[in-house]
Amino acid sequence: MESIKAAIFDLDGVIVDTAKYHYLAWKRLADELGIDFTLEDNERLKGVSRMKSLEIILEIGKQSFKSEDKEAMAEKKNKWYREYIEKMDESELLKGAKKFIEALKGADTKVVLGSASKNAMSILNKIEIIHYFDEVIDGTRVKNAKPDPEVFLLGASSVGVKPENCVVFEDAEAGIEAAHRAGMLAVGVGESETLKNSDFRVSGLDEMSLEKFNLLFKFKESDKKGINIGNKI
Ligand code: BG6
Ligand code: MG
Repeated sequence: MESIKAAIFDLDGVIVDTAKYHYLAWKRLADELGIDFTLEDNERLKGVSRMKSLEIILEIGKQSFKSEDKEAMAEKKNKWYREYIEKMDESELLKGAKKFIEALKGADTKVVLGSASKNAMSILNKIEIIHYFDEVIDGTRVKNAKPDPEVFLLGASSVGVKPENCVVFEDAEAGIEAAHRAGMLAVGVGESETLKNSDFRVSGLDEMSLEKFNLLFKFKESDKKGINIGNKI
């Protein structure tokens, strides 16, 4: 019988709570531009690239700029964002993330990061979990942002695992779509309504365990009949 050989984790919103810092930094830029940017709008930025995020904000404010100006704005936002995350430490790991990742390592599962962020390496270092990852695929290593499956496909191939043997943990709609386009099982992490397309959902990684992880695949093989993993939308 086939089994899960790799777990691929998104970073922001799954392992660490950085959404608030992204929001603060984008809000600061939006304020400068006179754009009303709300927490609800911020949901649309989850999982998408830095430039795409800026474009969404400019669309909300009905403003347009030439590409050099947009590059400068994105850089400015990133400078502020990096100031916010500078002080991050292990305490900002989301509940259950470290314990679950440790359990996977103990069970000989490949642990891979698949994130759109170009700041992923420095965050993993700050929160001191980098050593658990067999491979880190971040925004500096892919051309196409989620919902394109590139980040997850590269993650799988870099650890020598076939897509159908991978499970992705994601908090964003774009990430769930990317996982499915890669031919992988997608577990939604969080409460958001945008996770309705995930195969399973948990509120946080504290609801995951090795036992549940192994059940995911059985659930898939049984064509989604009969096995109760809980919390499926
Ligand atoms: C994703 C976040 O993980 O990374 C997005 O969910 C963010 O909100 C994207 O825009 C890019 O991040 P960064 O750190 O490269 O600006
Ligand atoms: Mg995310």
